[in-house]
Amino acid sequence: MKRLQGKNALITGSARGIGRAYAERYLREGAQVVIADINLTAAQETAKELGEGAIALELDVTNQLSIDRCVEQTIATLGSIDILINNAALFTAAPLVEISRDDYDKVFAVNFSGTLFMLQAVSKHMIERGEGGKIINMASQAGRRGEPLVAVYCATKAAVISLTQSAGLALIKHGINVNAISPGVVDGEHWDGVDAFFAHHEGLAKGEKKRQVGLAVPHGRMGVAEDLTGMAVFLASADSDYVVAQTYNVDGGQWMS
Ligand SMILES: NC(=O)c1ccc[n+]([C@@H]2O[C@H](COP(=O)([O-])OP(=O)(O)OC[C@H]3O[C@@H](n4cnc5c(N)ncnc54)[C@H](O)[C@@H]3O)[C@@H](O)[C@H]2O)c1
Repeated sequence: MKRLQGKNALITGSARGIGRAYAERYLREGAQVVIADINLTAAQETAKELGEGAIALELDVTNQLSIDRCVEQTIATLGSIDILINNAALFTAAPLVEISRDDYDKVFAVNFSGTLFMLQAVSKHMIERGEGGKIINMASQAGRRGEPLVAVYCATKAAVISLTQSAGLALIKHGINVNAISPGVVDGEHWDGVDAFFAHHEGLAKGEKKRQVGLAVPHGRMGVAEDLTGMAVFLASADSDYVVAQTYNVDGGQWMS
């Protein structure tokens, strides 16, 4: 049985990585999916590769006009939005004394403000439509505790967990479930960059940081994007109608809460 048959999903930052894996799984579950990304060319390639039911749209989650246009275009094309995944994010790391205001502003603008104002734009539509909806935010184990070299990214993800609680409580009266997924370490292009950063700052060989973090996961390996898709389907389906304002760890046993 297809669990998202007839549903329309908008997934931010889904040209690659975890967002792309969500899009692929949602299509298999019968949904139509908007691949919304700041990199339109990559989004178009992804939509083409994923095939029927996938549509590419340009979206910069830091720009209100872009958010409004993307939401309007999605509704004009698909008729409605049933599911939003706030997945777009930037990673940043730096020694505390070297954090720059520019970097701080940029990363908060995407990871936190982008999540808040996408959630706001889509929930307005869901409230007007009156048929409820599902909103999934991407948190991280980085939001559960600080890290010496990753202060800003960790803080953005802690803020996403808090927003998930506030929005979950505010919107459930409209039948809109807001929840979050908190991954641990998920291999992919994102982690290629993280590995390179730690190679530079800790003098490690390329690939060594990935090997270390993989060994530290109780499950015994780094995650892959497909490890997260089951939770994303559950949180988008009627099975999660009574689940409100939660952040679920899907991290191979890294964090317990
Ligand atoms: N990979 C991990 O280990 C990991 C761990 C915990 C949480 N997460 C979270 O999961 C989500 C996906 O991570 P990923 O590893 O697939 O990341 P990724 O870097 O591979 O993909 C992010 C996507 O977001 C897009 N994007 C960036 N800025 C944007 C903007 N302003 N507007 C719209 N799109 C924009 C990028 O073009 C890219 O396609 C993120 O929220 C990330 O913080 C990832």
